[in-house]
Amino acid sequence: MALFRALPRSHDRAELLDGPAPLSELRENLDDVARLNRYFGGASVTQSHLTRLLRHCRSEPMTVLDVGSGGADIPVRLARWARRRGRRLRLIAVDRDRQILEVARRRAAAYPEISLVQADGLHLPLRASGVDAAISSLTLHHLEPAVAPQLLGEMARVARIGFVVNDLIRSRVAYALVWLATRLFAWHRMSRHDGPLSVLRAYTPEEIGSLAARAGLSGIRVVRHPLRVRLAVVGVRE
Ligand SMILES: C[S@@+](CC[C@H](N)C(=O)[O-])C[C@H]1O[C@@H](n2cnc3c(N)ncnc32)[C@H](O)[C@@H]1O
Repeated sequence: MALFRALPRSHDRAELLDGPAPLSELRENLDDVARLNRYFGGASVTQSHLTRLLRHCRSEPMTVLDVGSGGADIPVRLARWARRRGRRLRLIAVDRDRQILEVARRRAAAYPEISLVQADGLHLPLRASGVDAAISSLTLHHLEPAVAPQLLGEMARVARIGFVVNDLIRSRVAYALVWLATRLFAWHRMSRHDGPLSVLRAYTPEEIGSLAARAGLSGIRVVRHPLRVRLAVVGVRE
């Protein structure tokens, strides 16, 4: 049915988050992203796949890398989760943008287990298998097809157990839902612009399959979560 058919990927429009913006605007936009992650279950998609990946992990502490961490809402959520369960978890939140890390610094101030690092996800400053798991949320679609495989390859390289990449589903229904959600629950103009555009820039499962193949990765799983308008790419080290 046409309604459920994938839309062509948008490659010629930029998100406002990718351009220069004042710190106050970035903060409001990332607050909106965090709220939408929470209300619509995007953050729990990452958390549930990650906890499954780590269920047999015996490292003390476990180490999780978050690539394209934005305002660090997901590391904070994971830190709280670990504290509640009495698990020792160390989180490394990486973002390429210095100002965005400033926003994250405030949000993560009460969580010394979260380290903030300015780095490019395409060239992670970590040794192979340097962390137990790597996650990334709403970041893959920021990368064009020429470089997106490098992000997957880097995450697979540094993660000893596996990785979870969470992004939006690209469909007409997803576009309509995100458009509506950003009108109802996102208050900043950047969020209203970037939310629906992010859907149009997201990759379909088939496209992700070929990005992963170009990264030399086999055996990845793409799990759709249509009610949450998300998909998760899960790679497990053999
Ligand atoms: C929409 S935000 C997602 C924030 C967060 N992961 C979340 O789900 O709330 C995308 C983030 O990816 C970052 N980013 C984009 N490309 C990146 C790259 N190559 N390396 C590191 N960070 C990147 C941006 O700076 C931005 O903070």
